[in-house]
Amino acid sequence: MFATTLRTHTCGGLRRADEGRTVSLVGWVHARRDHGGLLFVDLHDRYGLTQVVIAPESAGADLERLRGEDVIRVTGPVRARPDGMVNPALDTGEVEVVVEAVEVLSPAETPPIEIEDDLSASEDLRLKYRYLDLRRPTMQRTFQFRHRFFLAIRNFLDERGFLEIETPILTKSTPEGARDYLVPSRVKRGSFYALPQSPQLFKQILMLSGYDRYAQIAKCFRDEDLRANRQPEFTQLDMEMAFVAERDVYDVVEALCRSVVRDVLGREVVGPFPQMTYDDAMARYGSDKPDLRFGLELADLSDLAKTSGFKVFAGAVESGGIVKGLRIPQGASLSRKEIDKLEAFVKDFGAKGLAWSKWTDEGATGGISKFLSEGELETIVERLELDRGDLMVFLADKASVVHQGLGELRRATGRRLELADPGELNFCWVTDFPVFERDDETGELFSCHHPFTAPRDEDLERLESDPASTRARAYDLILNGEELGGGSIRIHRQDVQAKVFRALGIDDERARERFGFFLDALRYGTPPHGGIALGLDRFVMLLLDLDSIRDVIAFPKTASATCLMTDAPSRVDPEQLAELGLRVEVADEAE
Ligand code: AMO
Ligand code: AMP
Repeated sequence: MFATTLRTHTCGGLRRADEGRTVSLVGWVHARRDHGGLLFVDLHDRYGLTQVVIAPESAGADLERLRGEDVIRVTGPVRARPDGMVNPALDTGEVEVVVEAVEVLSPAETPPIEIEDDLSASEDLRLKYRYLDLRRPTMQRTFQFRHRFFLAIRNFLDERGFLEIETPILTKSTPEGARDYLVPSRVKRGSFYALPQSPQLFKQILMLSGYDRYAQIAKCFRDEDLRANRQPEFTQLDMEMAFVAERDVYDVVEALCRSVVRDVLGREVVGPFPQMTYDDAMARYGSDKPDLRFGLELADLSDLAKTSGFKVFAGAVESGGIVKGLRIPQGASLSRKEIDKLEAFVKDFGAKGLAWSKWTDEGATGGISKFLSEGELETIVERLELDRGDLMVFLADKASVVHQGLGELRRATGRRLELADPGELNFCWVTDFPVFERDDETGELFSCHHPFTAPRDEDLERLESDPASTRARAYDLILNGEELGGGSIRIHRQDVQAKVFRALGIDDERARERFGFFLDALRYGTPPHGGIALGLDRFVMLLLDLDSIRDVIAFPKTASATCLMTDAPSRVDPEQLAELGLRVEVADEAE
């Protein structure tokens, strides 16, 4: 397979049955071993690795000058390896090629990073020399996997009647909560395209154009703070369906996940995926993306606060807050210093402190133990399901702070104690998100999902009077505690859409300016519709059980949104700016 003018076989293709055949292989020199004048070279390419034996008398041989990563072509007969020299770890491990002629097609300089799975180079160095990093076997396996994964998705979608339709990259702003990347127009000076944060409005328009089922593997662009597992450009499986309700979307997406995981990993995922409301997820796990592979649920202790001897608890509840506890398994053995670290950890999320007590054979010890009455302790032990030797920690504050602090501590504890089975694929839906979130500082409302998400019918009447209390027909798909996808049933009526814009502080004039085309479109016969987008980079990362999204993107960007290989973003020629009618006024940080 894959024979070309230069080769008869790939480096992964030869087997015992090929013995005696004269073959030509091309590839990169991986390792070379000198054995009494004979040079044993491991030749590698995407398909595998074959051992070739070069003698000094082979035509073209210059054994001294042959170096790692040289691209060479060798020709000669295949021979079975002698007993004892067989390498069962290699597909080609039963044979070797006895080289009669060798040709260096392209010599290589010493590579600045090791072309090995186990390498010591820093990530920055790997990204600068990404072309060499991508030559490593794990990376090659990752991108072959990614290809098969995309293919499995497309096969499934085709069977289910989805049409893949491309939507523009040079477009108008579609808000998904990040900043836009802008592209200046030369023809219409002073005007800008925005790169899509998602194809949201186009897919909705395709529904009203009658395409019924659309799906696209789409590049999205978001200028946002790059926390872990976010990239400024990333790939979504973007889907939309007409005449659907939530259950229809769940069914298709669950079938897709099951089918794709079966195709690429040969594993069965059980369905239906469990569902949990947003309120429930926050209350029990302190997170809207709970990792359900392990327990450690938060326990509400607010009812104990009023009578508690620990004033911080009573104070928090009196001013409208809550008190919750979390169990840290075997945490009673933590030192004071380690507990201080837990406190510093939750303080990063806005908590004022972290109260604690150790549940030992002697009862409750340390921290706030002396403030806990016997009755209180009994309730806490029961609600937190404490075992002797555990640590209990408590936060008292407004609900958002308690949930985030303890939710993050739960997640970190799960990771530290390796409570989750890494081999498990745990999907769940989180539903009934609020339509709006309020910015604590400015008091302004912004969309929890995006402004095109339908509020629940029964909440429509409160859109103006009490917008913060409305719930959305929105859902997230969670996999192993990561947000894999998000979507919703959409607003398909122009009057409702206008109300949502108003609640977001976008007045009619501004709405017309930004989304006039879309509001107009809604007036010409819009089917009820809904959909979802799955983050495919994250999906591949989770399926391969990798920690970084950058390891599944061929040419990713750093946390400061730069490409270390190409040096993008970079300055442009003054002539280019002049053509665009632009002048750069920012001080050059580099100078
Ligand atoms: P949302 O903004 O939730 O929804 O995005 C969908 C999924 O895309 C992935 N994702 C990212 N992956 C990597 N880097 C990023 N910066 C990044 N941002 C998002 C996540 C996320 O769950 N238009 C809506 C979908 C809809 O309503 O149908 C949307 O884009 O896995
Ligand atoms: P203090 O009385 O301030 O010395 O605090 C006693 C303990 O309560 C310390 O462990 C603090 O970290 C903790 N603490 C302070 N504020 C809170 C809070 N809002 N919630 C939980 N614990 C707190």
